[in-house]
Amino acid sequence: MTITFSLMMNYGIHRPLLVLLFAAMLVNAAPATSDNSLLSTVYRPFRPWSGSESRDSKALVQQLQVNMQYHMGPVLTSDIHVYIIWYGAWKTSQKSIIRDFLSSISAPASLPGPSVQQWWSTVQKYTDQTGANISSSITVVGEHEDNGYSHGRELSRLSVQEVIRSALAENLGTLPVNTKGGLYMVLTAEDVMMQDYCRAVCGFHYFTFPSKVGYTLPYTWIGNSGKSCPETCAYPFAVPQFMAASMSPLKSPNNDVGVDGMVSVIGHELAEISSNPLINAWYAGENPSAPREIADLCEGMYGPGAAGGYPGTVAVSQFGASYNMHGVRGRKFLVQWLWNADTNSCAGPL
Ligand SMILES: *[C@@H]1O[C@H](CO)[C@@H](O)[C@H](O)[C@H]1NC(C)=O
Repeated sequence: MTITFSLMMNYGIHRPLLVLLFAAMLVNAAPATSDNSLLSTVYRPFRPWSGSESRDSKALVQQLQVNMQYHMGPVLTSDIHVYIIWYGAWKTSQKSIIRDFLSSISAPASLPGPSVQQWWSTVQKYTDQTGANISSSITVVGEHEDNGYSHGRELSRLSVQEVIRSALAENLGTLPVNTKGGLYMVLTAEDVMMQDYCRAVCGFHYFTFPSKVGYTLPYTWIGNSGKSCPETCAYPFAVPQFMAASMSPLKSPNNDVGVDGMVSVIGHELAEISSNPLINAWYAGENPSAPREIADLCEGMYGPGAAGGYPGTVAVSQFGASYNMHGVRGRKFLVQWLWNADTNSCAGPL
């Protein structure tokens, strides 16, 4: 860790060396296997200060051939119907940032570019075996409040499925079982902890088990890291203490570090769940229990020139906030890039 950190500091000078060293670390790294297959689709926090797996993969993306492959399973080609479960105490202002981001994906083309919709066009290029593209239509069609913390303030990967089961049982009117295009999104408030949160996970996606929920439904969990670990899950709007002397956090576009950071993780998970909802469609790597999906490969990249802890060249608003795409209602967002299999590179809004 010390070695990595001192290299980070010298990044501008020793770039080729750094890349080589990371390459060496990857070769030496233990395979990313896990005893729990639910680990396979996690958003591993981007850690600028350590040689973590995601760190290595990003540095190497431009160096190594990425073999993004289709494994014959379905992708989300029907209109995507998002059901949000707000777990814990959420402010109206926070919900509004997230709802605006989601409704920006299918917003009219009249949005100023670069837009959230243009960013999603990279996802739409992925198809299933019939040649059908991933849908351009994403709509929040149902919301459920779980502000009583029905399953406590410490959740595990499996207990998230119980949160979904309870929400479905309680609220079939606004939260129906939708096996055609339904996508269940559990968003936890900043005082909720998740198994491995901060240390190894900022979000994940998977599908529910019939034995737990009664159906196989794609779902994702993303936490608000504002209180617990913004320097990990809302980087670069917060940076670790020991880096503070060399790097100032970027100002977040909607004045909420935790939620603005979450937006990029939501984008990450949405892109992956759409292209790999049952973990048998689009991913790179030979190991299906540790797939490298279309957002994993571009974690930490927000603009041209992104590398190391540097997020890339991004726009700065008149209020000094950093962003790389426009959304509805004048919103701005900073969302990570995604893998474009045609060009074999990470892409922002096209
Ligand atoms: C659908 O996928 C094909 C193959 O990747 C791509 O060429 C085409 O542009 C996609 N259509 C849309 C609307 O993105």
